[in-house]
Amino acid sequence: MSDFKLRSMNAGDRSEVAELIYLSTNSWYVSHGRPPIFSGDPMSADIFFDVYEALDPGCGLVVEHTRTKRVVGSCFVHPRPTHIALGIMNSHPNYAGRGIARLLLKHIVDEADRLRLPLRLVSSALNLDSFSLYTRAGFVARRIFQDMYLAVPSGGLNVSVDVAGTVRDAKPGDVGAMVALEKELVGLDRAKDFAYFIKNAWGFWHVSVIEGDNGIDGFLVSCGHSGLNMFGPGVTRREEQTAALILRELNQYRGRHPLFLVPVDCGNLVRMLYDWGARNCELHVSQVRGEALPSKGIVMPTFLPETA
Ligand SMILES: CC(C)(COP(=O)(O)OP(=O)(O)OC[C@H]1O[C@@H](n2cnc3c(N)ncnc32)[C@H](O)[C@@H]1OP(=O)(O)O)[C@@H](O)C(=O)NCCC(=O)NCCS
Repeated sequence: MSDFKLRSMNAGDRSEVAELIYLSTNSWYVSHGRPPIFSGDPMSADIFFDVYEALDPGCGLVVEHTRTKRVVGSCFVHPRPTHIALGIMNSHPNYAGRGIARLLLKHIVDEADRLRLPLRLVSSALNLDSFSLYTRAGFVARRIFQDMYLAVPSGGLNVSVDVAGTVRDAKPGDVGAMVALEKELVGLDRAKDFAYFIKNAWGFWHVSVIEGDNGIDGFLVSCGHSGLNMFGPGVTRREEQTAALILRELNQYRGRHPLFLVPVDCGNLVRMLYDWGARNCELHVSQVRGEALPSKGIVMPTFLPETA
């Protein structure tokens, strides 16, 4: 009998999954000479369970140890009409290299093949264990992103971006135009996610859009939760539009240091972000298994909910 059993995640797994995410991520980074990713209370990582369960109840997966019944592996799955995204794959460091991640991934790959949908994710370029876990399963690396953070002064950033159009808060009526834009530029359809962010039932989401003569030309979501202050998902047609949206979101988080991923090939945008005080902290790679449109826009992925 195998030591490990795969099953669906349920409400009773919430705190064990949060602890596993906190422990396994920090332990991997510290054992590879990097600072821990999460600080403070391990339960702050429960945001991943809460958001994924709110968006896709019952879609998460855990691996349970057959003898102890403890959760030793977990992954969130995010099915959408155009693709399936997966994220926050973790296995307990005591059982590293024992095939837990492979077991989780095989189940997700089989389901994607059954539904004939591409799988998408972002994986750390510094973490070869996860990068190659996916490439060996048939994922293809598509685009590289710089992870940057910026300490926002308490008075906000005193800079401006020269851009045509109006940058404003998103409204529920913008969802259709946001979906159409992302479908055109990236080939994804995530109406449910956008409606959820704009509704902001838990009070830590914020969404900005940029509106030009022909409608919505870009959007950017931010998460202001104490356990994860991160921007994304976002997409625009041009770099200066992304800069304007990032600036607006940065000024929502005065005194904090939000994290955001920007495409490495957007040189002007990256230069502007350095001028504002941004620093690099990691690199991530978008990976797709199956068909992917060549991306036409400026994409900003996130880890919650995972996008690419
Ligand atoms: C990444 C992580 C999930 C891997 O979990 P794991 O349970 O130890 O992984 P598995 O035992 O299932 O095996 C991983 C597979 O990756 C592959 N792999 C790992 N390193 C590799 C390398 N350098 N080259 C080629 N393949 C490699 C192997 O193919 C291995 O399969 P194999 O046994 O057939 O050779 C785990 O290290 C972890 O939780 N890390 C911290 C959190 C994290 O970084 N998560 C990823 C977020 S996207």
